Amino acid sequence: MEKTEKKDIDWGNLGFSYMQTEKRYVANYKDGAWDDGMLTDEATITMSECACVLQYAQTVFEGLKAYTTKDGRIVTFRPDLNAERLEASAKRLEMPVFPKEKFIEAVEQVVRANAAYVPPYGSGATLYLRPFLFGINSVIGVKPAEEYQFRVFATPVGPYFKGGAKPITIRVSDLDRAAPHGTGNIKAGLNYAMSLHTLMDAHRQGYDENMFLDPATHTKVEETGGANFLFVTKDGKIVTPKSDSILPSITRRSLVYVAQHYLNLEVQEREVLFDEVKDFAECGLCGTAAVISPVGKIVNHGEEICFPSGMEQMGETIQKLYDTLTGIQMGRIEAPAGWIHEIK
Ligand code: PLP
Ligand code: COI
Repeated sequence: MEKTEKKDIDWGNLGFSYMQTEKRYVANYKDGAWDDGMLTDEATITMSECACVLQYAQTVFEGLKAYTTKDGRIVTFRPDLNAERLEASAKRLEMPVFPKEKFIEAVEQVVRANAAYVPPYGSGATLYLRPFLFGINSVIGVKPAEEYQFRVFATPVGPYFKGGAKPITIRVSDLDRAAPHGTGNIKAGLNYAMSLHTLMDAHRQGYDENMFLDPATHTKVEETGGANFLFVTKDGKIVTPKSDSILPSITRRSLVYVAQHYLNLEVQEREVLFDEVKDFAECGLCGTAAVISPVGKIVNHGEEICFPSGMEQMGETIQKLYDTLTGIQMGRIEAPAGWIHEIK
């Protein structure tokens, strides 16, 4: 890809918020088929007041990032897995699948068209890409839409949690984000709507995020509103919750591989009882937006669990995982085959 003049943005001070960029991709589904799709300047969407997405929340989305590598290439990280997860999400909500090759092509087009917004190497910022798919025609009786729109927009972002790598404090939520046998394992907008009230309540009480427990018994650790958990045991093993109602995080799956194959660590993917959490040495939240955000303290109805890694810095093992993953993403460390998708 040709070098582009970068926008005059204070990359180092970006938070995780929306900034309108130049081009986005749009494709429409009508009469049982997707059109060719194209880039557009139009950042707003006009639709019926009765659109299925507005009335019945028929919308699913993805999140991935474009990075500038050490040697100046622009890359994305495992976009094929985002395409596959969007497919699973779409099927669960009776929506048409947006084909994987077209998904990757759309991501490439959007990154290329907004190259001036891809933060420079070493700035700490990245270009966040948000693919999404929603039912757009009027629907009043409860049923899936017949017409859909798929879009991908891009926005430069900094750390998801204020303070970047500083450990955060979370609390155990009494409310659930997902139901047993519900939609917790797909990336549907409705799951995030479910989390908003308890998220704002957590913020009002001084916490950064919620830990959700399994909706059936409230005894097992699930995830937060936007990231999976990784724990480190006192003898250096990685433990990550396994559950049918959490989102299969691409970051978590990648970190499990990194732990096993780059760092030679034992990994256990299993049910994690909340009662075990007090015995772990380190805790982190992993996701595209969160990367790995260290957790220093978890509060359960006034009872505090303080991890030995403390409130000042990441624990040693979480730091190693973070350094290796970001090293792979930014081209400092050789990646497993197929992980890095260069935008040419
Ligand atoms: N869990 C939830 C609920 C999320 O919204 C996300 C973000 O996508 C994740 C986990 C992390 O997933 P990924 O690593 O694929 O971004
Ligand atoms: C992501 O990590 O990409 C997400 O979608 C999480 C979201 C809560 C910002």
